[in-house]
Amino acid sequence: MTDHTTHIKKEFARQAETLSADSTFTDLAVLERIQTAIVPTATMRILDLGCGPGIIVAVLAPLVDQVVGFDLTPEMLQKARERCSQSGVENVRLLLGNGEKLPFKDGAFDAVVTRCTIHHFKDPRVLVSEMARVTRSSGRVVAVDIVSSQDPKEAELHNALESLRDPSHVRMLPKSLLLTMIQDSGLRIISDTTWEKERSFDEWAHIANDPKRTTPLQTVMLSLASAGNRAGIDLRFDGDTVVFKHRWLLVTAEKLSSPGVGSV
Ligand SMILES: C[S@@+](CC[C@H](N)C(=O)[O-])C[C@H]1O[C@@H](n2cnc3c(N)ncnc32)[C@H](O)[C@@H]1O
Repeated sequence: MTDHTTHIKKEFARQAETLSADSTFTDLAVLERIQTAIVPTATMRILDLGCGPGIIVAVLAPLVDQVVGFDLTPEMLQKARERCSQSGVENVRLLLGNGEKLPFKDGAFDAVVTRCTIHHFKDPRVLVSEMARVTRSSGRVVAVDIVSSQDPKEAELHNALESLRDPSHVRMLPKSLLLTMIQDSGLRIISDTTWEKERSFDEWAHIANDPKRTTPLQTVMLSLASAGNRAGIDLRFDGDTVVFKHRWLLVTAEKLSSPGVGSV
C-alpha cells in the first residue's frame, strides 16, 4: 500500500460519520441528476466506484438488479452497510479495494458511477480507464466531481485550500482536462452538465472533522476574503461568515467498444 492510499484511508475513516450526514452529499436534486444520467432499469448491474457511505448505492439499488459499492475505506463501507440496511435494500454488494486496479472483469457492469473520487487520485487517468474497462460495450459511465477554475493560478489557490482542509486531496481538475481524459479512455461523451453550489466554510470544514485544521484554514480564508481574493471559487463574506461556490461537473459517457461482457 502506498503512502497516499494509507493517507486516504485515514482521512476517510475520520470523515465517514460527517460526510454520511452532510447536506451537500445527501442533496436529493444531485442524486436525481445522477439517477437520470444512469437511466436505471430492472436488469442492470451497476458499480459505484468510491461509494463512500453508500448514498448513491442506496438510491440506485431499488431501481436495478444489483449495485456493487466499492471503496478503499472500511469505515465508509460500514456506513454504507448501515445505510442500505436502514433503506431495506438487499441487492447490494459492498467491497473493499483500490480503484486503481479493480477486481472485476472487462465489461462486468452495465453502468459505472463515481462521485467526488477523481480528485483523490494521483493519476486520475487510471481511475477513468478502469471505469471504462469494467463497463460493457455501449454501457454508461457517469462521473461527477468538483472542478477547478480554467485559470491555472486560481486553480492552484483553490486546490491549496482544499488540501489544507483535507491533506489527502490531490487535485480538482479544470473541466476541459477532465472531459479530455474521459474521451481519451475509449468513452464517448453524451452530455456534460455543470452547476454551482454555495458552500459555507462551516459546513465544508465540518466534514473534515478536525478542529486543529479548521482554525488556521479559517484564518487563511478570512484573510483572502478580506483582501478581495476570490480564489477561483467566488470566496467572499456573507455577513460574518465566509462562503464560496463549488462548480460541479456531471459527465455522462458511453463505452465505445468492449472486448466482451464478463462477470466478477
Ligand atoms: C469524498 S468521498 C465520496 C463518497 C461518495 N462517492 C459520495 O459521493 O457520496 C470519496 C471516497 O472515495 C474513496 N476513495 C478514495 N480513493 C480511492 C481509491 N483509490 N479506491 C477506492 N476508493 C477510494 C474514499 O475512501 C471515500 O470514501
